[in-house]
Amino acid sequence: MEAKALLAKLIDRTGLLEHHVHTLRRLEPLMSPMASEIALAFYDYLGRDEEMRAILWDAPGRVERLYQSFADWYRGLFCGNYDAEYAEKRARIGLVHAAIGVKPSFIMPAFGMVQELSLEHLRNTLRSPEIYSAVEAFEKIMSIEAALMQDSYMQAMEYGYRLGVAADQEKALVAGARAMLGKTN
Ligand code: HEM
Repeated sequence: MEAKALLAKLIDRTGLLEHHVHTLRRLEPLMSPMASEIALAFYDYLGRDEEMRAILWDAPGRVERLYQSFADWYRGLFCGNYDAEYAEKRARIGLVHAAIGVKPSFIMPAFGMVQELSLEHLRNTLRSPEIYSAVEAFEKIMSIEAALMQDSYMQAMEYGYRLGVAADQEKALVAGARAMLGKTN
């Protein structure tokens, strides 16, 4: 399924309604300034795991690059425009991870960490009547993000098997993702 159609389904399935979108937009001035701090804490978390650390330091400039792109991704959560462009950008991010060998099992705990850091900030800055609606809207967009990422992995794996270059699951995933991204080396 193409990213735009999948996003529409996910919006439906998570029940992300207009008022949730408004809430996310309202949260933007509160959460966007936190993006760099969350990026820092996030990559600190990744760096504590031996396998993830090895990936992070595998290429020069990688950490600096992804620190910036993670912060952009984070701000995007509160943009309020969850359209075709959003869906395609997010689907590509999943492929980038699959192509560099970030295992599927690394992804959900990482999402959990983003949630934990964000909820802490919401709890510290909002008054109690606002917290519930903020958390509800935030959880919905995070579920959508996680499902988009998961779908990219599934598509890459399927494509990798179809290419017939590898029978091994991990290799098929990397080969499929690289081919979908148009990478030749
Ligand atoms: C909540 C989960 C995650 C989010 C939202 C996220 C976000 C991002 C974004 C937005 C990019 C830039 C993609 C692009 O170039 O288009 C990126 C790249 C990258 N991420 Fe993640 N990431 C996540 C999990 C992880 C995990 C678990 C690892 C494990 C090591 C990881 C390592 C990397 C690496 C190595 C790059 C490539 C940087 C480069 O060479 O340009 N990420 N990430």
